[in-house]
Amino acid sequence: MKPSARQQDQPNSAIARDIAYAVHPYTNLKRHQETGPLVITRGEGVRVFDEDGNGYIEGLAGLWCTSLGFSEERLAEAGARALRRLPNYHSFTGKAAAPTIDLAEKLIGMAPVPMSKVFFANSGSEANDTAIKLIWYYNNALGRPEKKKIISRVRAYHGVTVASASLTGLLPNHRDFDLPLDRFLHADCPHHYRFAEKGESEEDFATRLAENLEKLILAEGPETVAAMFAEPVMGAGGVIVPPATYFDKIQPVLKRHDVLLVADEVICGFGRTGNMWGCQTFDIKPDMITCAKALSSGYVPISALMISEPIWQAMVKESEKIGVFGHGFTYSGHPVATAVALETLAIYEERNIIEHVRAVAPLLQDGLRRFGDHPLVGEVRGIGLVGAVELVRDKATKQPFELTQGVGAYLGKRAEANGLIVRPMGDSIAFSPPLVIAAAEIEEMLDSFGRALEETWTWVKESGLNRS
Ligand SMILES: Cc1ncc(COP(=O)(O)O)c(C=O)c1O
Repeated sequence: MKPSARQQDQPNSAIARDIAYAVHPYTNLKRHQETGPLVITRGEGVRVFDEDGNGYIEGLAGLWCTSLGFSEERLAEAGARALRRLPNYHSFTGKAAAPTIDLAEKLIGMAPVPMSKVFFANSGSEANDTAIKLIWYYNNALGRPEKKKIISRVRAYHGVTVASASLTGLLPNHRDFDLPLDRFLHADCPHHYRFAEKGESEEDFATRLAENLEKLILAEGPETVAAMFAEPVMGAGGVIVPPATYFDKIQPVLKRHDVLLVADEVICGFGRTGNMWGCQTFDIKPDMITCAKALSSGYVPISALMISEPIWQAMVKESEKIGVFGHGFTYSGHPVATAVALETLAIYEERNIIEHVRAVAPLLQDGLRRFGDHPLVGEVRGIGLVGAVELVRDKATKQPFELTQGVGAYLGKRAEANGLIVRPMGDSIAFSPPLVIAAAEIEEMLDSFGRALEETWTWVKESGLNRS
């Protein structure tokens, strides 16, 4: 909701101080100086509340994070207990905090394919960054110093550190940041609606993409290509569910050329797609897995990288040669974060979160698909409790709006006015609510979205944006 002029004019208001002092990620910094922030002060269940007391269903669980909603007492208690017992300790030089050992064991036990070890970090970006470094380390250990190139995909999102932003396949993460770095290659985006040829089935599209991937590897030289990163469902690039048979077809290509596969489960992990892991939903057999977000229900920053036994063996060998494994963050395996994550995983089991997701997911998916007939809607897509509605200027030709017309952003604001926070990614509007969302709350979310969509359609027509 737009801040009132009165709030902004008060020099000590949160809004005025935010404008004065804070840099906002993923924000138009110039425009923010005029509009200021939406200041969120508390959360309860699937809702957050602003400083004026307005409530919003958090349709994206913050940033695809708060799987257990915004007021899970057990997580608050677990954090408080951990803070009192051992508020900080590290994992360097062979030290360990007790909950960190428990969490490592737990994650290895839960992994969708056999994994050997876990490395902890604080963010998805750091986990992916670490994966890149370990892939290079691994190939050096194997005596293949030239096998270093990394493939990801156009529209992928893997983070924003220098290396993980190089994996990310979105223009604003590269432009004028002098990225991507060399060694990073971007394969086709598996979005059937946007990139399939006329009449091409999902299966044929997947075949073509797998063939293109193989051509890319052969053109670069398989002896130079080390790994591919993939989100099971691409999130920030627009919630792109892979076309049927996609992972079945690309995995043999990678195997043929000895290219490792890293599954980025930062969004999909812990139930989002209706299974514990996106890898299970799409039958992906990765060599490494990164996860974060719902690992702690987003209550504290923590991420994890799981690695297979061959990679672990190479790391052991290399660190023996060098004398130390020269990598680690101050907060790798922070005991407060690992304690909260352990409690989160315990709650998932006790409350059978996967069954709940499976029970309510059809309400979200069918409900979103009902908007498919709307004149503004080009495609509705999704799986489990993640989805997106893509707005278009012309339904028949799929012609998009100009990004500068800000149609998605307008809808996002109308949703807020209707008590719903969603994430416009360009003109694709993403949904990824807390996994604990109840059936009635999904209905409410869809109603609010429906009103916002109608209001946006009225604005589009009045402004003539639908006419070329
Ligand atoms: C799939 C995926 N990977 C990595 C990241 C980066 O995580 P972080 O923002 O914690 O660095 C994100 C963040 O949204 C993500 O969605």
